[in-house]
Amino acid sequence: MSIRTKFTETFGVEHPIAQGGMQWVGRAELVAAVANAGALGFLTALTQPTPADLANEIAKTRDLTDKPFGVNLTILPAINPPPYDEYRQVIVDAGITIVETAGSNPAPHLPMFHDHGIKVLHKCTSVRHAVKAQSLGVDGISIDGFECAGHPGEDDIPGLVLIPAAADKIEIPMIASGGFADARGLVAALALGADGINMGSRFMCTVESCIHDNVKAAIVEGDERGTELIFRSLHNTARVASNVVSREVVQILKDGGQFDDVKDLVAGVRGRRVFDDGDVDAGIWTVGTAMGLINDVPTVGELVSRIVTEAEDLISGRLATMVAETSAV
Ligand SMILES: Cc1cc2nc3c(=O)[nH]c(=O)nc-3n(C[C@H](O)[C@H](O)[C@H](O)COP(=O)(O)O)c2cc1C
Repeated sequence: MSIRTKFTETFGVEHPIAQGGMQWVGRAELVAAVANAGALGFLTALTQPTPADLANEIAKTRDLTDKPFGVNLTILPAINPPPYDEYRQVIVDAGITIVETAGSNPAPHLPMFHDHGIKVLHKCTSVRHAVKAQSLGVDGISIDGFECAGHPGEDDIPGLVLIPAAADKIEIPMIASGGFADARGLVAALALGADGINMGSRFMCTVESCIHDNVKAAIVEGDERGTELIFRSLHNTARVASNVVSREVVQILKDGGQFDDVKDLVAGVRGRRVFDDGDVDAGIWTVGTAMGLINDVPTVGELVSRIVTEAEDLISGRLATMVAETSAV
């Protein structure tokens, strides 16, 4: 048995599961493991310091898998923006066939990707942005609810409403993200009208994810209350792990502080130390409320096969029985 959806058909993967872009985490070993498990993994372009490093990481991933994988290109406003066009050129030259765009309107990047036969999965956090991306001609939508790790947008609409509201308006394949970590989530997403799920936090906490074991242990120990929303007053909300640094940032901004007052606390270099050295209080690090559902550190292969098998059992077992029992009354 397998679960076939518009997403698996369009993007040519076995299972309706994606591993979205993750800064510092979406590297060759993890992405190849996801591909080998029959799901869709994305390398994170901007984790690589230069476009040439991205080309090397793509080659390294290809050494580890023959299956398709994609690249995430996160386009965020910045004072010194990375050379997006050069990263995009590397993606095209390397023969990548699927790109996940996120962060802003994908329009400037679509013609070049489509001219080279690359399918674009656009990740966004509101129905209106999903509708806009569909009208621009993207090939799929990844709709990211308030539960998610990273940037949930400013509308605070959780998946239970966001996913069916988007499904009512989206005709192209759509996967759902934010808070998914197990088979129950996959089945729920399908029931809500999505064609699959995208997971970040859950894939962070696998054997093949390159982050320090202390961080994985913190995720396993943590629960669904273990995140903070930083940058709310700056209208650039990010959901991150609750620790001494993120709580201080929340307090400073609550007291009327501006970005300059927290910029040293939120510096990327401090966040890197969390993942590299395992000091979970060294800086800001990203994780979502799915932490409350993550209780182990499996291999990616074990994780994907567990989710798919249990989802199939749930659909043909518990849920099917309920329908039978109801109609027998
Ligand atoms: C450590 C980490 C880093 C992330 N970095 C990015 C990123 O650079 N670009 C992006 O589009 N999404 C990023 N995300 C978001 C994920 O791709 C995904 O949308 C999100 O994790 C889904 O929510 P979940 O964690 O509840 O599964 C990141 C998530 C995590 C956990």
